[in-house]
Amino acid sequence: MSETLALFGGTKTKTTPFGKGRRLGERELAELTEAIQSDVLFYVFGTKVKTMESTMKTMYGMKFCNGCSSGTAAVHIALGALGLAPGSEVITSSITDMGSLTGVLYQLLVPRFADIDPRTYNMDPNSVEKLINERTGAILVVHHAGLAADMDRIMAIARKHNIPVIEDCAQAHLTRYKGRLCGTIGDISCFSLNHFKHINTGSGGLVMTNDENFEKVIKLFVDKCYFRDGRKRNPYFLAPNYQMTELQGAVAIAQLEKVESIVTARSALGKRLWQGLRGIPGILPQEIPDHSSHTFFLYVVRIDPKIINCSVKDFTVALDAEGIPSDPNKITGGMPVYLYDVFQNQSAFPGSRLPFVSKELGTNASYPKGLCPQAEEAFDSTFNFNITEFFTEGDIDDMVKATAKVAAHYREKG
Ligand SMILES: Cc1ncc(COP(=O)(O)O)c(C=O)c1O
Repeated sequence: MSETLALFGGTKTKTTPFGKGRRLGERELAELTEAIQSDVLFYVFGTKVKTMESTMKTMYGMKFCNGCSSGTAAVHIALGALGLAPGSEVITSSITDMGSLTGVLYQLLVPRFADIDPRTYNMDPNSVEKLINERTGAILVVHHAGLAADMDRIMAIARKHNIPVIEDCAQAHLTRYKGRLCGTIGDISCFSLNHFKHINTGSGGLVMTNDENFEKVIKLFVDKCYFRDGRKRNPYFLAPNYQMTELQGAVAIAQLEKVESIVTARSALGKRLWQGLRGIPGILPQEIPDHSSHTFFLYVVRIDPKIINCSVKDFTVALDAEGIPSDPNKITGGMPVYLYDVFQNQSAFPGSRLPFVSKELGTNASYPKGLCPQAEEAFDSTFNFNITEFFTEGDIDDMVKATAKVAAHYREKG
């Protein structure tokens, strides 16, 4: 007989407050103060963005790093640098943030969605390979939730067909694939510094590459196609203004000093949680393949509907009553990204079905329900534990205890 759940009048599992801490402090303040005192907030004339870029280059062993205004901007810039003709296809994951897709649509490129491996929630290379055709212009790999995608297989497919690879590392700061940092494997890599990421500047992004030709276009794509080297201003292609300000650069310098300790803390908490959950029948934490470290941007857990007799929603309501916060059906995006209205209604641009359907581009794409069955199924049975790097081991042990209690209840009850 299982213990009575707090939801039904039993004793609540978690009665002590969760560990708390500040993400921003003295170092950010000192860097910001210097930026303000310099009287320059424009990256071209200031030092903060440049210092941040060079720290990042050293940390990752990359030739070029460029600050920009967001992760969405970073992906757009990377796509712009590839110089793909409108109507070209970009293969990406069916589970990601809209920010991976915004630049695709703005460049009039056609997204093709690969299904996921249901154990890792990352792009399934077999699904990627099936989508390759003569129109494929790029593969945009998303390292989802802090776990590296299967890069050897994806790079082999890309190299075989001579297709460039962009790594979307928005959720994967310092994640390693077979010892190599994610963001150093493909042709161009993108990072986000938004509020929710391992490190944050409110909004912000980074684009890195080792390729000089890509770097030349990246620099222009960040900045209205303005030359900043004394040459006469004369934009020769369409480029947005995605500049990072010195204020963001200043905060990023301080945040980069902390990234390793944040990742270490989140990984240790994740490991402890995973070890605790693994033995609970019906509870399936995201699998961590041998090839990847896991930096735990998300803490994604699936319940096995054959064993646990309740919906994910009901499971998380019971966890909540035990004092454990979690989000039901929460993986990135809330649903496979192609089910968003912009794809379903082909409504990226008013009065037009561009880039999905166009005579001029020769495109005719649609994204019916059922396109990526594994991705669609994943949202039905998955929830995410809300954990910060300030949580304690005791907090994690309470999470395990509460999950075991709720799982035991719903194994017995229908
Ligand atoms: C995988 C992924 N790509 C891109 C983005 C976009 O980043 P930003 O919010 O900084 O524009 C996000 C943000 O959530 C993301 O998770």
